[in-house]
Amino acid sequence: MLRILVIGTGYVGLVSGACFAEIGHHVTCIDRDNAKIDGLISGSKIPIYEKGLNDLIEDNKKNGRLYFDIDMSKYINESDVVIIAVGTPLDEKGQTNFEYIDHCVSEIIKFAQKDLYVIIKSTVPVGTCDRIQMQFNIKSKFSLEVISNPEFLREGEAVNDFLFPDRVVIGINIQDKKIIRKLYTQLEQNGVEILYTNRVTAELIKYASNSFLAAKVAFINEMADLSEELGGDISSIAYGMGLDKRIGRAFLNAGPGFGGSCFPKDIKALINLSESKDLNLPLLKSIDLSNQNRYHKIVRKIERMLTGGSTIAVLGLTYKAGTDDTRCSPSIRIIQLLSEKGFKIKGHDPQGINKAKQELGNSIRFFDDLYDAAQDADLCLIMTEWNEYKNLDLVRLAGCMKNKKIYDLRQVINKDDFVKSGFKVTVVGYQGE
Ligand code: UGA
Repeated sequence: MLRILVIGTGYVGLVSGACFAEIGHHVTCIDRDNAKIDGLISGSKIPIYEKGLNDLIEDNKKNGRLYFDIDMSKYINESDVVIIAVGTPLDEKGQTNFEYIDHCVSEIIKFAQKDLYVIIKSTVPVGTCDRIQMQFNIKSKFSLEVISNPEFLREGEAVNDFLFPDRVVIGINIQDKKIIRKLYTQLEQNGVEILYTNRVTAELIKYASNSFLAAKVAFINEMADLSEELGGDISSIAYGMGLDKRIGRAFLNAGPGFGGSCFPKDIKALINLSESKDLNLPLLKSIDLSNQNRYHKIVRKIERMLTGGSTIAVLGLTYKAGTDDTRCSPSIRIIQLLSEKGFKIKGHDPQGINKAKQELGNSIRFFDDLYDAAQDADLCLIMTEWNEYKNLDLVRLAGCMKNKKIYDLRQVINKDDFVKSGFKVTVVGYQGE
């Protein structure tokens, strides 16, 4: 059992903290947001929607392995390991904002009175861990050893991904791995591969993995465009490609483009990094460009389906199902473009309305009931693969829409059923009606 201090209770910090407690460690999670910590202590409110997380937090609070606080200074010297899991947003120029990381680093230097392992779980530009190590070496008289331990958690599957990962990557520049090995002993016993490498390599593995997955998504989306033109069946194309073990079926679901707080940001960070080294990496730039273009292509397609000023019911506002996160959501971007073109938008989402409101304000109307959103609409646009949209009540939907048109950007509907009910159906990756 290790005593772990986790700084930052966003997606990464909260999931990691709860999961480290679950695999037997004693964990304290810190956040300077008082209200957030109050909610976590009282159990009244967890700040994110993540399957299984609430129960995990409550169980581990009860069994005395998980604590929350706002003041890290009390815990630094009681811990074996400090994990930094604060946000690293990009600024307007696309550069990483280090404000939160730098604050943690200076607090650790200020309060540490013993040797410590400091793990960076936040996704940081390559070279950041080495830079922090230099700061520690210069400014602290203790041995503060920086370790890169990137996370590979998908929102909506984060708890599962933590407890049953494909691999754990640890970037460590010293030979003695005794303490760090203890962090993941339970997962190692379960057969998970723990890859030890140096810090820079670990940081690069994270960016390379996300960029490669994003490339798969962008690639299948371009194949979907071709398939739409040529009369192909995109799901069979993905299946047929995926049968080749060298390719694999995962991340070949055509859709509205990739979004979220990771893929778009991580690709840009790699592009920036390569440019700062005078390297031209055109493939990376193309992934980003292909995804940006996709939103415009979709909007042009919708313009061809409707007359100006029509009403569109947008089903799904988050960047994918299973999360309330709307950061870099294709749905939000496409809504903005459609609104600029004069379409009236009515939005629905099972979890994402509050966050979508923060991004869209009152430029669109929001509905808790999807059929209220569809009332009098000329088109239903399915943007995320929520279960609610897989089993739509066709009679009800047909009864409330002004024009029976549906555009499914996630391949969730049964096209034949809709056609039989008199809908004009367009599905991503298939020729339209
Ligand atoms: C991603 C990675 O999958 C995680 O391994 C990584 O830890 C995380 O980023 C991160 O860096 O923190 P996440 O952003 O939660 O996780 O979402 P994904 O499930 O990977 O989906 C990313 C985007 O690609 C979504 O917009 C999704 O709808 C889209 N996507 C994914 C597709 O359009 N098609 C697919 O087949 C798969």
